[in-house]
Amino acid sequence: MTALTLSTAAVPGLRADAIVIGVAKGSAAKAAGPVVAPGAEAVDQAFDGGLAGVLETLGASGAEGEVTKLPAPSGFKAPLVVAVGLGAQPQKGSGYDAEALRKAAGVAARALAGSKKAAFALPLTDAADAGAVAEGVLLGAYSFDAYKADGGSGKNGKNGKAPLAEAALLGGKPRDKAFKAAVERATAVAEELNRARDLINTPPNDLDPEAFAAVAQAAAKEHGIKVQVLDEKALTKGGYGGILGVGAGSASGPRLVKLSYTSSKAKKHLALVGKGITYDSGGISLKPAGHNETMKCDMSGAAAVFAAVVAAARLGLEVNITGWLALAENMPSGSATRPGDVLRMYSGKTVEVLNTDAEGRLVLADALWAASQEKPDAIVDVATLTGAMMLALGNRTFGIMANDDAFRSAVHEAAEESGEPSWPMPLPEHLRKGMDSATADIANMGERMGGGLVAGLFLREFVGEGITWAHLDIAGPAFNEGGPFGYTPKGGTGSAVRTLVRLAERAAAGDLG
Ligand code: BES
Ligand code: MN
Ligand code: ZN
Repeated sequence: MTALTLSTAAVPGLRADAIVIGVAKGSAAKAAGPVVAPGAEAVDQAFDGGLAGVLETLGASGAEGEVTKLPAPSGFKAPLVVAVGLGAQPQKGSGYDAEALRKAAGVAARALAGSKKAAFALPLTDAADAGAVAEGVLLGAYSFDAYKADGGSGKNGKNGKAPLAEAALLGGKPRDKAFKAAVERATAVAEELNRARDLINTPPNDLDPEAFAAVAQAAAKEHGIKVQVLDEKALTKGGYGGILGVGAGSASGPRLVKLSYTSSKAKKHLALVGKGITYDSGGISLKPAGHNETMKCDMSGAAAVFAAVVAAARLGLEVNITGWLALAENMPSGSATRPGDVLRMYSGKTVEVLNTDAEGRLVLADALWAASQEKPDAIVDVATLTGAMMLALGNRTFGIMANDDAFRSAVHEAAEESGEPSWPMPLPEHLRKGMDSATADIANMGERMGGGLVAGLFLREFVGEGITWAHLDIAGPAFNEGGPFGYTPKGGTGSAVRTLVRLAERAAAGDLG
């Protein structure tokens, strides 16, 4: 991953491949051209104060996502200036929005793929801004090249360019504790988030439940996290009918991974539960062609939970966190669960499986009940659960459902503070009866309308009495099928990781809503 440093070097003498500066939109009312953002003063001076005009001539407007490259002024050691759009200027007296900085840094880092070193001279007002730029750089520079002929080195020119190797952040205070801490936090979060992206992008023939569990085991060992893996035998002994039922058709058996991070100073216990379907073919209710090509992403919830627990451990957060990864592969075969089968779940409830493609709720049900047994202060599950949530919120926003209004708001706030788009969704009681089953306690399908909420209502039945719970449906934002934008690459995005880490920080501060 890109190496990060905080630097106080003066821009003209900096040895780097490029200097990154910010450019914002001028006021629309005055039909003004682009505005050079603070941080770029030295560059502007070298242009005799005419940098904004030069950028305008080159077609720059300051819009978000825009990249304008120009040769550095003479006398500069770096050959290139990269001006990146920040969008609208902030209100007088306040600095740029952290998310605008994060996105701009990500766009610039991606535009500089193939370069060795870049210096980022973006407008920082405080340590949090430095953290945002650091996050943007590390997340934006990400690329997944493990399966390319040259491993992404770009050496043979076949597969594009290697990620930006080194980034110096200017305008920060390298010796200031708050700045150092912000960059350290950003590094831990981004490294683990990028690892979640790697797991999501890894093809399902190489990442089955057993392989995922092995990755979790190794990371847990490295970071002093207690880990327990229940294999098929243990799941059978324990009565985990949901996880076993979903995994029954696959040649690769299911697993339930429990990660326990504990702090001696913890006052709160947060449980995180992730849907980890390493491939979702739909099972006997097979998905049609066109709907299964990206279904390696169906373990994104488990990847997010895994990344968040490891990041929390690296940051030494003063909170106890238990992560549950419900891992299975949903395949059709002679041993697969059939539509019409009844499963006896870990909670003891019976479920009539009407559609084997509604498998996520089955593995989550067992993990939610397992998590509930420890009576945590709150449980959050994360899942690529329903196509219906994508129809409702599009592919950049996740839905938040909960059995507690204050907690749903706390999760929403944590997401906003992290720069992750999300929206609160209801759990309408009238949708519950659509899951009534003639044979079992509940069916795994209900009304088609409001399908994301129906899934949420199903999960709620498997949360222990009196336990605060929220459910994040990340089916939309988990996997980016379009081109990269901001600090979000194509493919696995690492959706929800930053929200979970922020929530863990809030829990450490005793504030869970
Ligand atoms: N993994 C899918 C949901 C999904 C769809 C995630 C598209 C990401 C992109 C889930 O297991 C599923 O198949 N859900 C069904 C439920 C239905 C059968 C009740 C759906 O949403 O169609
Ligand atoms: Mn499915
Ligand atoms: Zn699924």
